[in-house]
Amino acid sequence: MAGKGLPLGIDVGGSGIKGAPVDLGKGAFAANRLRTETPQPATPEAVCAVIADIVGHFGEARGDAPVGVTIPGVVRHGVVQTAANIDTSWIGFDAEAYLAKEIGRPVHVVNDADAAGVAELEYGAGDHTKGLVILTTLGTGIGTALLYDGELIPNAELGHIEMNGGDAERQAAQSAQERENLSWEQWAARLHDYYTHLESLLWPELFLVGGGVSTNADKFLPLLDIRTPIKAATLRNKAGIIGAAHLAVTEAAKAKAKSGKK
Ligand code: BGC
Repeated sequence: MAGKGLPLGIDVGGSGIKGAPVDLGKGAFAANRLRTETPQPATPEAVCAVIADIVGHFGEARGDAPVGVTIPGVVRHGVVQTAANIDTSWIGFDAEAYLAKEIGRPVHVVNDADAAGVAELEYGAGDHTKGLVILTTLGTGIGTALLYDGELIPNAELGHIEMNGGDAERQAAQSAQERENLSWEQWAARLHDYYTHLESLLWPELFLVGGGVSTNADKFLPLLDIRTPIKAATLRNKAGIIGAAHLAVTEAAKAKAKSGKK
């Protein structure tokens, strides 16, 4: 592990920004998480100021261990590329460079569903399944993570595939259920279309379903009659934080190994 202390995971969401030090041996929080309301407007600068406060709050537990941050958008090389459900000023923002300056050490920034997928495969419902595992998070949007033999293929934006001539997320996310007041049966019919479409394109071994609504998985998962095994995620709203911390440590180790080779 790079550095002494415990890595931090910080999960940036539409309503709250949550962080905790993570015990990677157990895949669990090592202290109570800290939650702060997401500032409005949720500009990159305002959100990064909250992230810096959370890092400061856990300074003693962290020591000089890495920090991982999730963002609900595509992130390539630390730069946010899309903003379906966040302030559009995030597009093109180099979050890793900005946060490294704010905090004074490297930070790993990752898509929220990717972090959750890594955590579920490593410590939760994925249980190190081989082959292709697709985690979907059903919330305001639909986040997706592709993991092949445990390796993350980042930034799969399969929540935005076309379904019935429109954006799948708009029709099948949990926010659609709320917005349109759909019964579990009505919503399950949309999810059935969505997962059938995904499995015909990618033939995964397993679907994992995360997001807050996974606590009600027994109300809709049994209504889905699809080819692929489908299970509720188990780490619930901890998955993003745990996955971000895990990825921050593995990325820091990779960077160290690379610089050692030069
Ligand atoms: C975004 C994804 C994100 C998902 C869940 C989607 O609208 O495009 O990047 O993972 O919402 O937050």
